[in-house]
Amino acid sequence: MTDRLTSEAAALDASHAATDRRDRFLLPDGVVYLDGNSLGALPRHVPDAVADVVTNQWGRDLVESWNTHGWWQAPAAVGDRVGRIVGAAPGQVVVGDSTSVRLHQSLHAAAALRPDRHVVLTDPDSFPTDLYVLAGVASQVGWAVEKVVPDKMAKRLATSDDVAAVLVSHVDYRTGRLWDLPAITAAAHDAGALVVWDLCHSAGAVPVGLDEHRVDLAVGCTYKFLNGGPGAPAYGYVAYRHQAAAPNVLAGWHGHAQPFAMERDYRPAPGIERMRTGTAPMLSLLALDAALDVFDDVEVASVRARSLSLTRFLRVCLEELVPDVDVVSPSKDERRGSQVAVRHEAAYGVVRAMAGRGVVGDFRTPDVVRLGVAAPYLTHADMLTAARAYADVLASGEHLDAGWSQRSTVT
Ligand SMILES: Cc1ncc(COP(=O)(O)O)c(C=O)c1O
Repeated sequence: MTDRLTSEAAALDASHAATDRRDRFLLPDGVVYLDGNSLGALPRHVPDAVADVVTNQWGRDLVESWNTHGWWQAPAAVGDRVGRIVGAAPGQVVVGDSTSVRLHQSLHAAAALRPDRHVVLTDPDSFPTDLYVLAGVASQVGWAVEKVVPDKMAKRLATSDDVAAVLVSHVDYRTGRLWDLPAITAAAHDAGALVVWDLCHSAGAVPVGLDEHRVDLAVGCTYKFLNGGPGAPAYGYVAYRHQAAAPNVLAGWHGHAQPFAMERDYRPAPGIERMRTGTAPMLSLLALDAALDVFDDVEVASVRARSLSLTRFLRVCLEELVPDVDVVSPSKDERRGSQVAVRHEAAYGVVRAMAGRGVVGDFRTPDVVRLGVAAPYLTHADMLTAARAYADVLASGEHLDAGWSQRSTVT
């Protein structure tokens, strides 16, 4: 006899069948992959696309490929494709370098755009690289860093006119909390400050609306919900209205107005091209270009609707199946990104033991089991399988096995 949760999962999967894109991805049989918020899955057509770049472009057409295969234009062209996903009109996003580098560049641009202000606000629970890069930039430009929880930022901003910029991650990497981008952006603008949003955990999973909400600057990686592959290059967004005045602190020859004039002095290219640095990692960039095809006929709003249904159902299953489960991700849809995080004192052991049962999530120190939900390739049945694995691990005590008490993995 089918139990109630199994029937519910089947009914939900039937009603969301139109947004199931599982067949576009290569995933091992028997694995429920809940780590697409760390490394997205491999889109099925990407290996052939990469093989074509390697064999027919690099291998056969050699250096001519910079002209004939659009390599030179790729950072901005792929940027426009990412831009469509995060709500940016063409000409405002460029791809290349890591998120950390893009953060450094964007924060320097913000400092130059607000030269008379000396405070920057950020979330104390930001992803570490954001905190490290911000501390470095602050010491270079003379900013004082104030750590303020994002939903208290509006209040802080209203108290004085000394804030140059606000740096916030749209979705908290550990808890999955989705911050109110329109409200924080508006509060910053009311106080004369700029916003720099880190979209690593929202691009491709949550509608962002960069242009609609008049965001100033944004960065994000492409290896999570955009499925660009390990080390895929990051992107930077600079709103049109700031481009002419935003300097590139990492000026390099690819951002020069006339790169092949080989001039001795730097002259920035017009538009977003000025945010290029040096040669982009072309194989990764073109793998990302191919991976983005998955989104060609998909609206982020429909990915979001599917994701909300999945994360809602995962929570229901966990609460029904796991005694005293401590779900830390918000229950309200409008506050939750695309993951369900659970607190457990032996979280590392839980994650490893679940992986042993084919349910791959990840551990975030000190005590979080992070279950990322990349909606295009996951089903409600997968959510139930994951919750059952969690419950079975705890019931059997596998998470306490000696092997899991030593942290031997990096993710
Ligand atoms: C919010 C956030 N910012 C930045 C990064 C990573 O930066 P980078 O691409 O430089 O490794 C991550 C990685 O997980 C992240 O979650």
